[in-house]
Amino acid sequence: MVKSVILAAGKGTRMKSETPKVLHQIYSKTLLGYVIDAVNNTGLADENYVIVGHQAEKVEEYINTHYNNAKTVLQSPQLGTGHAVSMVCPYLENYDGEVIILCGDTPLITSDTLKTFIEAHRKMSSDITVMSAIFDNPTNYGRIIRNNDGSLNSIVEEKDATIEQKDVKEINAGIYCLNWAKIKNAFTHLKTNNAQGEYYLTDIIEWGNKNGLNVNAHILERNEEIYGINSKLNLAEATKLMTARTLEKYMTDGVTIVDPNSVWIDPQTEIGKDTIIYPSTYIEGKNIIGNNCKIGPFAHLRGDVILDDFVKIGNYVEVKKAHIKSHTNACHLTYIGDSEVGQNVNIGAGTITANYNPLNKEKSKTIIKDNVKIGSNSVLVAPVTIEEGANVGALSVITKNVSKWSLAITRAPQKILEGWVSKKLGK
Ligand code: UD1
Ligand code: CA
Repeated sequence: MVKSVILAAGKGTRMKSETPKVLHQIYSKTLLGYVIDAVNNTGLADENYVIVGHQAEKVEEYINTHYNNAKTVLQSPQLGTGHAVSMVCPYLENYDGEVIILCGDTPLITSDTLKTFIEAHRKMSSDITVMSAIFDNPTNYGRIIRNNDGSLNSIVEEKDATIEQKDVKEINAGIYCLNWAKIKNAFTHLKTNNAQGEYYLTDIIEWGNKNGLNVNAHILERNEEIYGINSKLNLAEATKLMTARTLEKYMTDGVTIVDPNSVWIDPQTEIGKDTIIYPSTYIEGKNIIGNNCKIGPFAHLRGDVILDDFVKIGNYVEVKKAHIKSHTNACHLTYIGDSEVGQNVNIGAGTITANYNPLNKEKSKTIIKDNVKIGSNSVLVAPVTIEEGANVGALSVITKNVSKWSLAITRAPQKILEGWVSKKLGK
């Protein structure tokens, strides 16, 4: 098994935010969450150490509530990436397995890439493997400096690089795999004699070479995977990249997406085949959408939604925390929240499940059984149950349970005032 160290102590000044950088979200998951999940999903890691510093309490709280195989380690003050990793030394004194090091602000990294990387490290019998990438514009990255025979010499930071070194297009992606027992002593030898006056993690390469270790670089295939978030602009770009990747996967799996440019779907959502997603649909959170459903245009699923097969969610319909069974339609202008909806139900235009009581701030459940028909513009005030086959007349406000196969109607009876208009007009 592998242990990971995830660097997340940095300040993130350019986010201009009260929220720690790594706790910003793409859809419903934090940047840090994507990184930890990628590591966990390799199936190779048993323990993750998250290095925290700036706004440490918030990151600690997040980790403690969401990840039981992650531990936070405080780095204060923050003296550089090498100093950050050295914070785990006391925890790993007797450990002689592998450690992978990543950054908490690169949410696009995939578990497949990490697996390939760790396998490459093992195949080469490497002691230190750094992930590199070839960038047309390598500005600001550490450059991979190779010897004439192609072997890895060192990593030089932009600020310390000579003009020739700046021309190098192979960069340090900031992900490493280390044989811990062989490399741990390097951390007591790092120095700050560089342009930034920091303890550079990258200096372990030279240390490894000097100490006879097997040091290698493994080139990343898809550069976008190490896209780092430093600003809100980067956050939007990463969201776009992740969305494109997610939609491609759905389409490969048989989902029809009419216009991939206008659809936004959380990667935590599952969608069955032959379901059609119409333009301008926004789906966030964990949802499970069955086969042959039709969603949108202009639909909004907000999480914890389960749609069985052949469900239709039409325009201006918002759904959250609801299970809707097969062949049920909610085609227009509707809100369904905290609900269970049966099969073959028709939800008329403008139906609202009133699930929230603003006085006690509590949410209640609406239960709609099979074959129910809800007339347009009705409000179902939860908690309420509409039993099997019942109908609700249009414009009803339903506050009491409705029994099987009955009609509930609450609107005022229609009146006709004969000749009222002509009288008014003096005709
Ligand atoms: C680092 C690498 C560079 C590489 C780049 C890839 C070093 C010296 N340089 O540069 O070669 O191309 O990443 O993105 O390692 N952090 C801490 N504690 C600290 C300092 C940083 O936790 O004391 C964290 C930051 O929050 C961040 C990560 O480490 O997540 C990287 O730090 P950053 O300062 O952004 O490194 P770069 O200068 O980009
Ligand atoms: Ca830096």
